[in-house]
Amino acid sequence: MSFTHTPLKRTRLNRSELFIPGSKPDLFPKAVNSKADVICIDLEDAVAPQDKDEAKKNLIQALKELDFGKKTVSMRINGLDTNFCYRDVVDVMENGGERLDLMMIPKVGVPADVYAIDMLVTQIESRTKRDKKIGFELIVETAMGMANLDSICSGSGRIESLHFGYADYAASVRMRTTNVGGPNPDYAILTHESPEGRLTHWNDLWHNPISQMAILGRKHGLRVIDGPFGDFSDPDGYNAQGKRTAILGCEGKWAIHPNQVELANDLFTPKESTIERARKIVTLMKEAQDHHDGAVTLDGKLIDAASVRQAEQLIDQQDLIDSMS
Ligand code: GLV
Ligand code: MG
Repeated sequence: MSFTHTPLKRTRLNRSELFIPGSKPDLFPKAVNSKADVICIDLEDAVAPQDKDEAKKNLIQALKELDFGKKTVSMRINGLDTNFCYRDVVDVMENGGERLDLMMIPKVGVPADVYAIDMLVTQIESRTKRDKKIGFELIVETAMGMANLDSICSGSGRIESLHFGYADYAASVRMRTTNVGGPNPDYAILTHESPEGRLTHWNDLWHNPISQMAILGRKHGLRVIDGPFGDFSDPDGYNAQGKRTAILGCEGKWAIHPNQVELANDLFTPKESTIERARKIVTLMKEAQDHHDGAVTLDGKLIDAASVRQAEQLIDQQDLIDSMS
């Protein structure tokens, strides 16, 4: 027996996820005052090795003292292949109180990676009598992580979302680029001869992994989130990348700079006209079904029960946004 839709395991507004290095505590209040849905305080790649301990202390202090309001608060721990990882989990969970909502695990490669962190988190939650259960965000950013993603997603009931890590993914599969997101002139096709000559059409080199992540994430009822766009002075490039991933099923994107937060919120808020049409579809199909019609036309286009499912997931997303504002 299969259900056509896997419900989301945990709904949470995640249009924009703002990253702040744990070693830059002066930026924390700015992040809190931003419009980001999720703030992720990074202990991993944005923090130099000699600053790791200080970054963790800053995070613990912020969790106890800063008022994060309604925002979701996450921390990115160091990878399991480092000797920082276990202390990130233990120190922050034992000393940071209850404010933390999510833990982001980088470079997951096998289901046991998630299991290992879950084991630590579960023990600490039990020992510290923590009420709020920590959820997991996984970064898909290695060839192994991508190849094993289906089984990784079953690695823990805590997993809420998958995130695409452009830079590490590119490094892992040895892509010939140093860009974090965005296009590449070498990933293009040449058209046949035309009156304007042979045209070069740039393609999206990230399409395949992001689409795979979206399919597998949704199969497991997880949020699917687009990762970083490195050139923070290129809002048009950011928007172009985000529009493509929204179409593929992502419901949010990282902001590695505060100026990307509102771009992400706009990109991942359905347009008013889209929601209007979605509501029309639901109303029209309800009337149609009352008259025993399975399919009707709206603006000259066919709609049926599947259109209602398309419309409802958009309306659900809008309802979530409205409930948080
Ligand atoms: C993010 O972690 C990335 O590797 O791009
Ligand atoms: Mg990474």
